[in-house]
Amino acid sequence: MEKTKIAVLVSGGGTNLQALIDAEKSGVIGSGEIALVIANNANAYALERAKNAGIKSAVVLKKECADQREFEQKIIDLIEENGVELIVLAGFMSILTEYFTSKYDHRIINVHPSLIPSFCGKGFYGLKVHESALAYGVKVTGATVHFVNEIPDGGEIIMQKAVEIQEGDTPEVLQKRIMEQAEWIILPQSVEKISKKIQSERR
Ligand code: GAR
Repeated sequence: MEKTKIAVLVSGGGTNLQALIDAEKSGVIGSGEIALVIANNANAYALERAKNAGIKSAVVLKKECADQREFEQKIIDLIEENGVELIVLAGFMSILTEYFTSKYDHRIINVHPSLIPSFCGKGFYGLKVHESALAYGVKVTGATVHFVNEIPDGGEIIMQKAVEIQEGDTPEVLQKRIMEQAEWIILPQSVEKISKKIQSERR
């Protein structure tokens, strides 16, 4: 059966993209294929990772668009031109509005580095999430994969995994542990689960 075509949206290092590429290679993702990588930053190392894996990529820059609507429309055009059925936000540091999200109901998933509903929503991204968790003093945090709707980090949860905070953790150390113990595991598993569902609905 034809695999679910996936687009991965990225902004930076792309370690979650790498986890998806590796999962496709190892067979953890068997129902989907990464067809396209879209970056909103021309210097994103994630673009190198796509190139090394032989995956088509594109850059869409907000500063080259008149407004948010045009930025989102350019991404929509790429998604439509490439027959993409599932959109994965993997460290994509730009909030998409309802104009975008309403077109792809239960077809966009995001990985967030905390246990939602803690440390999430507008302003909580990247290291800021881990700084907040450490400042609050929680002893357990983790990662969440969820569907994306018009509310930042507010869509239905697909998978979560807890990670313990250790004495002396810095935001950087904690970020790495959460990636290794949670994000790089539950993101590929969730992508496989949803890709398989899309495949079965196509029949
Ligand atoms: C990851 O920790 C991801 O969960 C987080 O940014 C990092 C991106 O790393 N995303 C968010 O904070 C979104 N709100 P990566 O580019 O190496 O995958």
